[in-house]
Amino acid sequence: MCMMTELIFEFMRECILMTETAASTSKTLEQKIRNRTARVGIVGLGYVGLPLAVEFAKAGFSVVGIDVSEDKVGRVNRADSYVGDISSATLEPLVKGGKLRATADFSVVSELDTINICVPTPLRKTKDPDMGFIVSSCQEIVKYLRAGTLVILESTTYPGTTDELVLPMLAKGGLKVGTDFFLCFSPERVDPGNPKYQTANIPKVVGGVTPACTEMGSLFYAQALETVVPVSSTQIAEMVKLLENTFRMINIGLVNEIAMMCDRLGINVWEVIEAAATKPFGFMPFYPGPGLGGHCIPIDPFYLSWKTKQAGIEARFIELAGYINGQMPHFVVDKVQHALNDAGKPVKGSRIHVMGVAYKRDIEDMRESPALDVILLLQKRGGLLSYSDPHVPELRLDGLHLSASPESVVADADCVVIVTDHSAFDYRGLVDRASLIVDSRNALKGFNSTKIVRL
Ligand SMILES: NC(=O)c1ccc[n+]([C@@H]2O[C@H](COP(=O)([O-])OP(=O)(O)OC[C@H]3O[C@@H](n4cnc5c(N)ncnc54)[C@H](O)[C@@H]3O)[C@@H](O)[C@H]2O)c1
Repeated sequence: MCMMTELIFEFMRECILMTETAASTSKTLEQKIRNRTARVGIVGLGYVGLPLAVEFAKAGFSVVGIDVSEDKVGRVNRADSYVGDISSATLEPLVKGGKLRATADFSVVSELDTINICVPTPLRKTKDPDMGFIVSSCQEIVKYLRAGTLVILESTTYPGTTDELVLPMLAKGGLKVGTDFFLCFSPERVDPGNPKYQTANIPKVVGGVTPACTEMGSLFYAQALETVVPVSSTQIAEMVKLLENTFRMINIGLVNEIAMMCDRLGINVWEVIEAAATKPFGFMPFYPGPGLGGHCIPIDPFYLSWKTKQAGIEARFIELAGYINGQMPHFVVDKVQHALNDAGKPVKGSRIHVMGVAYKRDIEDMRESPALDVILLLQKRGGLLSYSDPHVPELRLDGLHLSASPESVVADADCVVIVTDHSAFDYRGLVDRASLIVDSRNALKGFNSTKIVRL
């Protein structure tokens, strides 16, 4: 055999060996996932990560959560939940039974078969994506990543993140995606406080870097979640989430603008929406309010507009809806001012009581809550502020420190503003005791009183 032929044979032998090794890597992981012996890791134990960890632990997997917050790590290990949708009673049997534990030490990655990344993706002040949390978690993961691991990014982000940012970081150690390890993006759609749809029964979209990645990711989720929706790429999966949240943000912007128009025309916008919603096709009701809140709707669309700007496209709907939604706290504050003036009182020196400060009903999350803007704006105009919220006992904000007051203080307020319509509030008692109410959520639907001013 000549030298050249020998080299070709050697090369082919290596190729076959590599293919066999890759096939066996994939087969081994597949078997571990199917028989639920795969060791599952969830990076970031917040509103998204903790419920996900719980679902996989409930499905029989051994789950370890990794978080940089020692406080959260300690609380998970003590089965002391800090996420509204997960009770401590749910955590307890999983922690005691050894199915769920938490650590701040990334070296555990070397023992894991799957890793879901659920870290924050906020915006910078300039409205540019802040990828710092994804980057720092990947920098830690890659130190311990071994062949045969499935990695799934769940943090909401711009299209291209998984392929352009995460993949090069994880492949640095020489592992080849699609054969040595598997990489997917799967958007998280959890809706905190929603009693009907939670992590287990919200369909899970998943797109991999390669078809083998998508298959592995789909197989993984199918063990713990009811419905899996595979898509053809990570970019599609990333864009799905941005379409969903942009759709919501823009429709809320539209209905907020309609609310301002109706206000000017003296029309009750709530009655308009209710009647329009009787149309059985082609209309979906959205509701006006004091402004956007939470970690998703006010933020995610700007990930898209940032990305498209680089491709030379201005995301004009997003910018416009962002502007209108940003006006809503001002609109509510103007309503309070007019209502007080009509009652012969200036805002300055008036006792104004805010009902509900969390960003939406029945949860404790304060992130981006419009109540914060409403309080600061009213305070700037000289109002004396207090608040009630059964889910938020204390409020610290720009030098302001308030503790929640009992609802009974509404009797002493010059004006009450309903910012978040928690179901635990005593609305009957409020209407009986308060002298003036600005209702930004239609929480007092069904009550007829001249003291109620609706949005
Ligand atoms: N909260 C929601 O309703 C929701 C819904 C859908 C999607 N999302 C998206 O999911 C992602 C996570 O959101 P969340 O609400 O769970 O955030 P969160 O702030 O509640 O939780 C994130 C967790 O990650 C931890 N963390 C930060 N950096 C870390 C690191 N380098 N390594 C390990 N842990 C780290 C934090 O300590 C925190 O516990 C975001 O991209 C968000 O946009 C959130």
